[in-house]
Amino acid sequence: MPKSTSLWIDTAHRPSAAPLVEDTSADVCVVGAGIAGLTTAYLLAREGRSVALIDAGEVGNGQTAVTTAHLSSVIDDGFTEMLRLHGPDGARLAHESHARAVDRIDMICGDEHIDCHFERVDGYLFLGKKDKESTIDEELEAARAADVKVMRLPQAPVKGFSSGPCLRFPNQAQFHPLRYLNGVADAFMRRGGRIYSQTRAESADGGDRACVKTASGHAIRAGSIVVATNSPFNDLVAIHTKQAPYTTYAIGLRVAVSEVTHALYWDTEDPYHYVRLQQTTNRELGGDNDERVDILIVGGEDHKSAQANDAEKRFECLVSWARERFPKAGPLEFRWSGQVMETVDGLGYIGRNPLDADNVYIATGDSGMGMTHGTIAGMLITDLIQRRANPWTELYDPARVRTGAAVEWVKENLNVALQYKDWLTRGDVKSIDEITPNNGAIIVEAGRKIAVYRDERGTIHRRSAVCPHLGCIVGWNPAASSWDCPCHGSRFDRFGAVFNGPSPKDLDPA
Ligand SMILES: Cc1cc2nc3c(=O)[nH]c(=O)nc-3n(C[C@H](O)[C@H](O)[C@H](O)COP(=O)(O)OP(=O)(O)OC[C@H]3O[C@@H](n4cnc5c(N)ncnc54)[C@H](O)[C@@H]3O)c2cc1C
Ligand code: FES
Repeated sequence: MPKSTSLWIDTAHRPSAAPLVEDTSADVCVVGAGIAGLTTAYLLAREGRSVALIDAGEVGNGQTAVTTAHLSSVIDDGFTEMLRLHGPDGARLAHESHARAVDRIDMICGDEHIDCHFERVDGYLFLGKKDKESTIDEELEAARAADVKVMRLPQAPVKGFSSGPCLRFPNQAQFHPLRYLNGVADAFMRRGGRIYSQTRAESADGGDRACVKTASGHAIRAGSIVVATNSPFNDLVAIHTKQAPYTTYAIGLRVAVSEVTHALYWDTEDPYHYVRLQQTTNRELGGDNDERVDILIVGGEDHKSAQANDAEKRFECLVSWARERFPKAGPLEFRWSGQVMETVDGLGYIGRNPLDADNVYIATGDSGMGMTHGTIAGMLITDLIQRRANPWTELYDPARVRTGAAVEWVKENLNVALQYKDWLTRGDVKSIDEITPNNGAIIVEAGRKIAVYRDERGTIHRRSAVCPHLGCIVGWNPAASSWDCPCHGSRFDRFGAVFNGPSPKDLDPA
């Protein structure tokens, strides 16, 4: 049986910090210790600022633990889209900012001696089965218009994969995200930074007396606040109409070392498939020797969160897709899933929180590129707090509106409006008896929707199925054993505790 966890969680030591147990103060309070929050906290500490970093769980509790960690300057939505939405200067800046983010990760690994298998690799964009060669010709032209180094090839010069016509993007990279995060956390603390785990922020108020209040009743007074919780809990509507949550799936298959060339591979399908390799050892995978092996990581099969309930089928599709293209792939070792926030114009929202005080910043809208967007957040928000000009400020401004994104905006918000029909639909099952152990389902009781989870021992846990953010009905996600909201990305564990915003609180008792 494959492990239902990510390769990263399985192969990294997870340090633990103490919770905040008293009121405190700092120059900057950063909320969220994923790659965005931790990079921001670290870069500010490097400049001598006192920083308090809090997380509702531990370092690397969120989506950074379930990523696939391609470090790429090739924008996921494609340069054709970037040119249409942001113009040639915007497309060029977008590429440049992601390339600088990869360079910055490389530099931090060197400066702080972080052993996280950081590796420079080439990236290859190849055709989906039904896509025409003209798709990559268009992309080639657009990439060149954005000053991107790119080459068209009849076949990628790699072992173990027959790509057909493709584009080659040199100087991309990859790493082990949790080992990187742990290394940055250590470096941050060596520079005087404070990390408080198991410390949930409930409010973040800017202005002269800026303050983050925690669920345990403590206050952190700060000159500036950075909310890097993947999806901001301190913004009710403004940002959440401009981004949408998508669930994505990943598998890890064992391959012998050197059977497949280490590179980033992705195709032109929609949703697209994304592939890379990660070195590990037999021992790390539970074996009894240190022989090196590779894990071929393949991701894809995305769908709007909580709007599909067929995780098994999606994992199977990924496995057969991978075996068809990578015939050397061996046993399935891992399968996991996570959520990405897709913005209507393909780039993250990083900077001052719209409609808020000047000293409250957010980093959200990873658009499937959260490793680099998170690093850009660290660089850009540090500049904003340090009152330095940054050429990316306008491109990533959370308040921006791109007219070319209007159709996508309408489509996503109509989709959200449609989710309210769930108030009127039947439950997933008629009776609690139909729910098998370690499973969840929505039932209707006296006209109310209840999220019911039956644990391994058969005990029933009941919560209101109404999302505390704006009232959509959550759905059971069998791949992650979580309750996910189909509207703006809130997620709750099987017992109803919130672990991903925008909901500021847990599901109500049933
Ligand atoms: C399967 C998959 C594959 C992906 N592949 C790639 C890829 O190849 N390349 C890439 O660049 N990106 C990829 N991504 C996206 C990327 O992983 C994420 O965008 C990125 O990890 C998000 O980082 P973050 O720091 O913004 O958020 P997170 O890592 O989610 O961190 C947020 C933190 O905030 C904490 N938190 C939340 N609410 C509160 C609160 N109220 N108070 C205190 N703390 C709180 C959470 O506990 C968490 O630790 C992928 C994502 C998935 C799911
Ligand atoms: S996340 Fe907005 S209603 Fe649930």
